[in-house]
Amino acid sequence: MSVLICGGAGYIGSHNVKVFMNHGEDVVVIDNLVTGHRASVPDNVKFYEGDIRDGKVLDKIFTENKIEAVIHFCACSLVGESVEKPLKYFDNNVWGMVSLLEAMQRNHIDKIIFSSSAATYGEPERIPILETDPTNPTNPYGESKLIMEKMMKWVNHSDKINYVSLRYFNVAGAYKDGSIGEDHRYETHLIPLILQVPLGKREHITVYGDDYDTKDGTCIRDYVHVCDIAEAHVLALNYLRNGGKSDIFNLGSGDGYSVMEMINAARKVTGHAIPVEIGARRAGDPARLVADSAKARKILNWSPEYVTMEDIIATAWKWHTAHPQGYKD
Ligand code: NAD
Ligand code: UFG
Repeated sequence: MSVLICGGAGYIGSHNVKVFMNHGEDVVVIDNLVTGHRASVPDNVKFYEGDIRDGKVLDKIFTENKIEAVIHFCACSLVGESVEKPLKYFDNNVWGMVSLLEAMQRNHIDKIIFSSSAATYGEPERIPILETDPTNPTNPYGESKLIMEKMMKWVNHSDKINYVSLRYFNVAGAYKDGSIGEDHRYETHLIPLILQVPLGKREHITVYGDDYDTKDGTCIRDYVHVCDIAEAHVLALNYLRNGGKSDIFNLGSGDGYSVMEMINAARKVTGHAIPVEIGARRAGDPARLVADSAKARKILNWSPEYVTMEDIIATAWKWHTAHPQGYKD
């Protein structure tokens, strides 16, 4: 039996391909390569270039392979763009999920592990955030993820498709040997942007606001290593295999770090001064987002390996120095 990784050529999906293979799983990938990279998936993995909104392609995959479970990473995931183009997000994310669940119904696949997001919570009422806290997304991206979770809940009732929804906080870092990593053509994430300074691609990093009500005035986030995220997917699949009930889990390290602390950690790792410019706040950025991940630790037995920001950034630095042009190298 194989695991179908939807979006397996993307940043988080490609790390899952490696980690699932390390656990002896047989992996099949579908990706439309809109933001993913063919080179991020090993040549010995069966790869379908296609769109999950195309039910015929999904039926072909489910017919040609014995698929036991689906791991679903496909999405548009730029918060700012989602505010400008909400229908793009409902089309790709929500309609993509309808198409995938329909194909799973038709082909009697009963397990799905889903990439959800801290964005489902919106502006948190308290820190750290628990899975039971209110979900009031402040942008169409987060709303699309919440709708997708609700779709899985109702399909679980009607068709017994079991799901685990993993709400990631800030995913960061790269595979330890530097062979794969984050390569978004339009990059918005803090760590790759910081590292562009020592790579000589930008003069300074702009800090989006230093007047938040936090220890040093800059926003606090919960950064978690991409391979620890992937290990959680393996654990979630085994949880469903062992009869675990459908559920939602936060994935974060549980510690919050400010933007300035992340820049200082990157200075230590790279040995570069990394000049800073203080800019305006970015619209829609909450001051603090920190997960309470006790539920994933207890029920899934998840235990993140990367605990210091220096260790996480060091893996990203290894990837970027080995591949300064990303997958073009
Ligand atoms: P990514 O853009 O690198 O990966 C998404 C992959 O899915 C890409 O390879 C893309 O080509 C593919 N894809 C998109 N739509 C598709 C479709 N309709 N059919 C087939 N393939 C399609 O993004 P990522 O950073 O790896 O994020 C992966 C998932 O994790 C997303 O669902 C995202 O919302 C979620 N997430 C990411 C973060 C983060 O910090 N990066 C945080 C929370 C949640
Ligand atoms: N930041 C800067 N300068 C930059 C880039 C980012 O100061 O050049 C700051 C942001 O303002 C924020 C922090 O660095 O305070 C982290 O920003 P990212 O863009 O790396 O990540 P976000 O916290 O905005 O986004 C993450 C996930 C999204 C998810 C969101 C939930 O990447 O998928 O959390 O709010 F939707």
